[in-house]
Amino acid sequence: MCGISGIVSSENIAKDLFSSIRNLEYRGYDSCGLAVYAEGKIQLRKNTGEVDEVNKKERLTQLVGNLGIAHTRWATHGGVTKENSHPHFSANMEFAIVHNGIFSNYQKLKSELSAEGFEFRSMTDSEVFAHLVERAYAQSPNVENAFVSSLLQVEGAFATAMISIHEPDLLFCAKNVSPLMLGLGESRNFIGSDINAFLEFTKTAVTLDDGEYAIVGKQDYRIKDVATKEEKEKNVFTIHWDVESTKKGGYSHYMLKEIFDQPFTTKQALKIEKEEIEKMAKMIQQSQLCYLVGVGTTFYVSMVGQYFFAQFAKRHLPAVSSDEFKDIAILSDKNMMLTVSQSGETYDTKMAINFAKSFQSKTGAIVNVMGSAISMMVDNVIMQGSGAEICVVSTKAAFSQMMILLRIVLEVARLDNHLSEDQYKEYYTALEDFPDVIETALNEQSGFIRNMADTSVKIHNWLFLGCGVYFPVAMESALKMKEVTYLHAEGMATGFLKHGTLAMIDESLYSLFFVPPPDQIDLHERTLIAIEEIKARGGKVYGFIFEGDEKSEQLLDHLIRLPKVHFLVAPFLEMIMAQLFAYYSALKLNRNIDKPRNLAKSVTVA
Ligand code: G6P
Repeated sequence: MCGISGIVSSENIAKDLFSSIRNLEYRGYDSCGLAVYAEGKIQLRKNTGEVDEVNKKERLTQLVGNLGIAHTRWATHGGVTKENSHPHFSANMEFAIVHNGIFSNYQKLKSELSAEGFEFRSMTDSEVFAHLVERAYAQSPNVENAFVSSLLQVEGAFATAMISIHEPDLLFCAKNVSPLMLGLGESRNFIGSDINAFLEFTKTAVTLDDGEYAIVGKQDYRIKDVATKEEKEKNVFTIHWDVESTKKGGYSHYMLKEIFDQPFTTKQALKIEKEEIEKMAKMIQQSQLCYLVGVGTTFYVSMVGQYFFAQFAKRHLPAVSSDEFKDIAILSDKNMMLTVSQSGETYDTKMAINFAKSFQSKTGAIVNVMGSAISMMVDNVIMQGSGAEICVVSTKAAFSQMMILLRIVLEVARLDNHLSEDQYKEYYTALEDFPDVIETALNEQSGFIRNMADTSVKIHNWLFLGCGVYFPVAMESALKMKEVTYLHAEGMATGFLKHGTLAMIDESLYSLFFVPPPDQIDLHERTLIAIEEIKARGGKVYGFIFEGDEKSEQLLDHLIRLPKVHFLVAPFLEMIMAQLFAYYSALKLNRNIDKPRNLAKSVTVA
């Protein structure tokens, strides 16, 4: 997965083009490059490294021209080298292309083109496309036709963009499965893998669908069907994200900013119209079986949903990781799936939706990115409105998804008569008070959590433990820790300990407990038993606890004491503390927090 962008304008574009891939860097960041057209020639500069580094080496922003494409890469086919970075030239350097995704039949095409004398400069699958266009153009000199005939030859999930010296005022782009959008400005237009590519320049956008291509000039654009070349009418929409939400706003990292955004994004989640929540709730209510589906963080979000559905709505909604969905789901037109996805572009989740659709199952989604593929694929979507999340690891988006799921659960519970009006009101009040609680806790606890992180980075193995809904919270928190610190953290249910894990316990093993408030008697007792089991074997025990929990205070070696809150929101407050703990641990370890090694925010490939 990679980030693509392009600009056509009446003015110099290099600085803006560079800025656009900078804003897409979370999609991939091992190399990048720009190709800009001027005076009959395409200038192409690229190299390995992060975007700013490459700019220093290659002076990308000093390129001159009004038409260009850019790319930030996360290597799949071909190692991280200058030659393999994008853009790629055709052999005669008259065409330059960028590509995200995979041309799955590239090997066959490459042998064919090589046999005809085309010399390849890189080990990528992408380069075949540039040569295909050159070959097609040689046979019939029309850029659009050459572009389309090349598209008809490639297979796989991809998005691609191209410029050519033969059409110096036009950007060409197309997509199949991988995302691509147009941004419409005044006297200039943009293309991008997602709206972050052009959000600082325009808030008006159009999404390309699979099997479509676009020809984009500075004043106009046309979107056509690859198979028929017929022009298509498309919806133009306005992006409601604030550009400020994509900037660091004074924080040292996006992760920290996004953690601190959570009081606001929780408010946004609570502002989603009741009708929308009710519509999703009714879909679930009317289905015989509904799966909750996500992957990575959003799988844990789904697990939280599963616990809440059982607890409040007395319904079993199995949480399934998108990549395993087709192996486990039993589907029919009476069943449904509710997917959760920040980016709305995750390959595994899209495949799971397609699988459900092939059985005529109903599909719903909670998605953050407007115009994204998943938001368009499903029968019913709730846009979560959390604003751009730039840090590769998800914090505020996942948190909002949990809040929205909780709202849906309460609605189903109410419709099914499992909640009285009074309970419903009480729970909603707890949710409405929650943003202020988060705000206070973030401000009051940051120092303590930082201190805990600073003194514990020597610990390389963690167990994160919780029971009930605190179990998926522990799993998600362990994932955060792994992602940003590169340390080992295993999320586990407290009850698992005695069935194997206790064998590992000695004084070198540290555990972090997500302790429920003492009035959650069953969960609290189970957690305390697990703490004792570890202590009895010499293990060190850390914990997040709530005020008034004397029993835990006596047992824990290190604790963070949180104010008393409603039981409904208690696990989430601890989760936010765990986000901070992961952040400050990574800071102390000097990790690349916003862009952890080997990860990408939006995994759009298999
Ligand atoms: C990738 C990211 C994870 C994310 C997952 C699902 O694996 O690295 O952080 O949780 O994708 O992403 P989505 O955009 O569908 O929520």
